[in-house]
Amino acid sequence: MDMMYDCWLSAGKDDNFDRAKKYFCSVTAPDGRVVSSAVKELCNTAERLFGISPCVDGDADKGFVLRIDASLGAGAYKTEITDDAVYITGGDGNGVLYGVYRFLILTGGGYPDDRIAVSESPAYAVRMIDHWDNGDGGIERGYAGRSIFFSDYAVTEDMTRITDYARLLSSVGINAVCINNVNVHRNESYFITDRYLDKISALADTFGDYGIKLYLSVNYAAPIEIGGLDTADPLDSGVKSFWADMAKNIYAHIPGFGGFLVKADSENRPGPFTYGRDHADGANMLAEALRPYGGIVIWRCFVYNCHLDWRDRSIDRARAAYDHFKPLDGRFADNVYLQIKNGPMDFQIREAVSPLFSGLDKTNMFAEFQITQEYTGQQKDLCYLVPMWKECLDFNTFRNGKPFVKDRILGAAGVSNIGDSHCWTGAPLAGANLYGFGRLVFDPSLSAGEIAEEWVRASVTSDEKDSELITKMLLSSRDIYESYTSPLGVGWMVVPHYHYGVDIDGYEYSPWGTYHYSDCHGMGVDRTVATGTGYTSQYAPENADMYENIDTCPEELLLFFHHVPYTHMLKSGETLIQHIYDSHFEGADRAAELAHQWETLKGRVPDDYFETVRERFEMQTANAERWRDVVNTYFHRKSGIDDIHNRKVYD
Ligand code: GCU
Repeated sequence: MDMMYDCWLSAGKDDNFDRAKKYFCSVTAPDGRVVSSAVKELCNTAERLFGISPCVDGDADKGFVLRIDASLGAGAYKTEITDDAVYITGGDGNGVLYGVYRFLILTGGGYPDDRIAVSESPAYAVRMIDHWDNGDGGIERGYAGRSIFFSDYAVTEDMTRITDYARLLSSVGINAVCINNVNVHRNESYFITDRYLDKISALADTFGDYGIKLYLSVNYAAPIEIGGLDTADPLDSGVKSFWADMAKNIYAHIPGFGGFLVKADSENRPGPFTYGRDHADGANMLAEALRPYGGIVIWRCFVYNCHLDWRDRSIDRARAAYDHFKPLDGRFADNVYLQIKNGPMDFQIREAVSPLFSGLDKTNMFAEFQITQEYTGQQKDLCYLVPMWKECLDFNTFRNGKPFVKDRILGAAGVSNIGDSHCWTGAPLAGANLYGFGRLVFDPSLSAGEIAEEWVRASVTSDEKDSELITKMLLSSRDIYESYTSPLGVGWMVVPHYHYGVDIDGYEYSPWGTYHYSDCHGMGVDRTVATGTGYTSQYAPENADMYENIDTCPEELLLFFHHVPYTHMLKSGETLIQHIYDSHFEGADRAAELAHQWETLKGRVPDDYFETVRERFEMQTANAERWRDVVNTYFHRKSGIDDIHNRKVYD
């Protein structure tokens, strides 16, 4: 057992399994590819923990009894525990596998039987992880080492790590994985050809054993770049047959292939606009190619102009996705899914929920979250993201019969935070985000606290006091990170391109459309209809009115929606400038406090684990101090208003 590597499948990190030992004598199970992975997991656990090999297909009323009852539904499972047996019934093979993992995770966490005997059914049919891995082995926005799939433009042939990754993913209910970056460069364009398909099909097989479908990101200009055509026009017959041939060949290699993920006409990637076509034309053409095989197209809505003129205050990047896709509602084929980022900008620590979730009524939608901590601390700073994702899923759009985002979407994708680092996520505590994503999109009704506690108890320690402390640290981490970085929803202020650390004006005069507009009077983006970009009108009237009016706008989003003077009085009774000072002084203190809290766990978790986490907290403390000093000094100089407590700023 290696807690860093095994993550929440660290059975044996303590004695929690002792009372379950009696069940490991026998495993009874039906046949099936995914069920046999469940049997293997139980047998390996028995071997590892107790040095015993269970009798497989033994007595049906003893030990683990795995069964399938289709009436439960795909991916669902039910666990019952008696003195002699653990009955795990799945709606299908995936359900059985999820039930087995749930038993192992909760047992490892030291939970009582009544909590382990659960019955769950997934909220969405597609629960996906998107990798931004490149063929050379680099990972765009990766903070956990190199790709586990690729290096030097070759696909790995060693399935050891892939198998363990598939185990981790399926153990939290993930059933789809896209293995390559949405920015598909020249070499990766060939992933859909014979040059790569044999090797990729071996990955698909391994994932398939764990009920996970493999997807590929494709280059919209592939007909030109690899097909020798002179166009990628979606209405061109040559282009259509190029994609039909590609699909046929892919399915010949990978019968269970999931489909394509597409970033088109976004951040300089090619797309249908070049040919005067729109996103529906583009997506539907690919969908036709995949249709005969049951494949789907996941089409990203991260479409905006990244060549803006910062001088032009009328254009607002936040409006872009809605402006592009709302008019197309109802035009997409039934096997097209629009993938919408949680917010309208780009995975900031705080932004409004994308209005596109409320704008589309006749289109399949997926939500996209970023598990990798691009803008949220890069797996150096602790930032447990489940509370943020929940805000999106629980957002009331006030539209139709299904007002909440979680009821309007049909699936969710999370951008992966793993690489080949020993603990997978670079920072061991960042494992909570991967685990949390899987759990949350399986059951969005779970609380962020429940998920955090489960993860801590299974992955780090089930000691009451210690697990409570770490859970509390996780739950406070998003607020802490937010309080020392960009204030009240305004976003960015990060070092350009790299996106870690503070550079307040780093993007202020750039073409990316990510401005805070600070001057000597005030700051923030006016997105109102009355005096600003009109973005608020993209919401249903209940939300539009709330955001439009500065008095009802939620304060944590004040600077996302309004440009206000530094003297603007907040509900707390302090001015905006004083809030900036206070939150930054407090934020840096609270970050240092996290480091102190971790110190109390020395000797209570394995040394390598302790040290790896400790190093991260050191980096976070330094990062938070720098943010504090740069932000406070910058706004002191801009505003000329003193901190009422006279703390140190650097003029
Ligand atoms: C962000 C990120 C890019 C990424 C893009 C996307 O802008 O910085 O690296 O490609 O999101 O989601 O497509």
